[in-house]
Amino acid sequence: MRERDAYANLVLPSILRRYRLKDRDAALATELGYGTLRAAGQLDAVIEACADRPLHRIEGPLVDAMRLGTYQLLRMRVPEHAAVATSVDIVRGLAGSRSSGFVNAILRKVAETAAAKGAEEWLAELAPDEKEDPIGHASFVHAHPKWIGQAFADALGSHEELPAALAADDARPAVHLLARPGEITAEELALVTGGTEAPYSPYGVHLEPGSGEVGELDAIREGVATVQDEGSQLVALAVSRAELVGEDTGRWLDLCAGPGGKAVLLGALVGLDGGTLDAVEQTEHRADLVRKSTDGLPVTVHHADGREAPLPDGAFDRVLVDAPCTGLGALRRRPEARWRRKPEDVSALAKLQRELLLAALRHVRVGGVVGYVTCSPHLSETVGVVGGIVRRKDLGVTVERLDARGYLPGVPELGPGPHVQLWPHRHGTDAMFLTLLRRTA
Ligand SMILES: C[S@@+](CC[C@H](N)C(=O)[O-])C[C@H]1O[C@@H](n2cnc3c(N)ncnc32)[C@H](O)[C@@H]1O
Repeated sequence: MRERDAYANLVLPSILRRYRLKDRDAALATELGYGTLRAAGQLDAVIEACADRPLHRIEGPLVDAMRLGTYQLLRMRVPEHAAVATSVDIVRGLAGSRSSGFVNAILRKVAETAAAKGAEEWLAELAPDEKEDPIGHASFVHAHPKWIGQAFADALGSHEELPAALAADDARPAVHLLARPGEITAEELALVTGGTEAPYSPYGVHLEPGSGEVGELDAIREGVATVQDEGSQLVALAVSRAELVGEDTGRWLDLCAGPGGKAVLLGALVGLDGGTLDAVEQTEHRADLVRKSTDGLPVTVHHADGREAPLPDGAFDRVLVDAPCTGLGALRRRPEARWRRKPEDVSALAKLQRELLLAALRHVRVGGVVGYVTCSPHLSETVGVVGGIVRRKDLGVTVERLDARGYLPGVPELGPGPHVQLWPHRHGTDAMFLTLLRRTA
């Protein structure tokens, strides 16, 4: 992972298969792998506090082994002898007994300090002072880089809710499924998967964390259900429900469709009324994924840049821009992402987001609706992008903002509007953002 910059959720399943790990062993390996990646920055600070040198002067494989050991000691409460011995054995095999002696000494110190002070108290002590720097403190304690904690606090409008938001973002999330409209109901899907119906999405089902390999579920294999966070379902549903001026002619567009999660839901919904969805995706292999996942639905996939898609202007009733973004709202599902993302990623993406939103406003017809969605709550990617476009006088189109909250009945704590920001700690979803704009001329 560290060496190849790989994605944990793509790598881990093949590792589990290669070593034939099943059930409890697979669950333990998953918790250890994902958990260690999720907490990496915090674990590094703990290791540095116990080592006599900075981390960048320690060989990579030793750092990996110490992270695994420290995670077990601090966050899984694995007994000292087991946590230390497994990490030391790994290092002895890889790098010899001098290195394993070093790792043994550090991990013993971690274990002793955690036992003496209490793991949580020790972490709070290593963190920036809570009164002087509440955002830095909460970020450290809940294992997030501070710039991400700051972005969450900015979007929440205060730092009071931040510890709850970061704690929920640090917990292992439940897998959410989409019951494909017209194929299976959420009630039936919950019954056949042993899950529970989602609280807000009529098509959603939640599975318990650690309930096994999702790909092996019959409903997934048969294509009647797909994995999709409930927040993603809700924002797509709101786009499908938003009030149009004039008749819905059933021509919908998804401008950033790969890998196809929302295209499946929108394609199924528009298909129920005899309409069609055009789905645009710039990356070829992701366009192929959209083709695969929407097979059997009235969806036409275009491999093209959404900023200049070969599609008519002023033609679509509903356009979804699920913009490429930093993904800061879905960190709980991408264990390594929080330490890989950098603050400078935001501005490059904001430009692309503006251009895609402008393209969507060209393609939508007068009276039609554009849904601008990100799986990031960062203000520069959300209200910053939308505000910048809506204020412009040179667009050639005029728009009004709709109160998106009105299209998510029953979902609590949606804030002052008119946009919607979902949160893991409030809604149990990823932190999805949605603005609805209706073209007025
Ligand atoms: C947030 S993802 C979309 C997720 C998707 N809607 C779903 O629910 O599965 C953004 C997608 O936009 C694609 N993308 C990036 N730049 C693009 C562009 N200029 N035109 C069209 N798609 C683009 C990315 O490859 C990525 O697949």
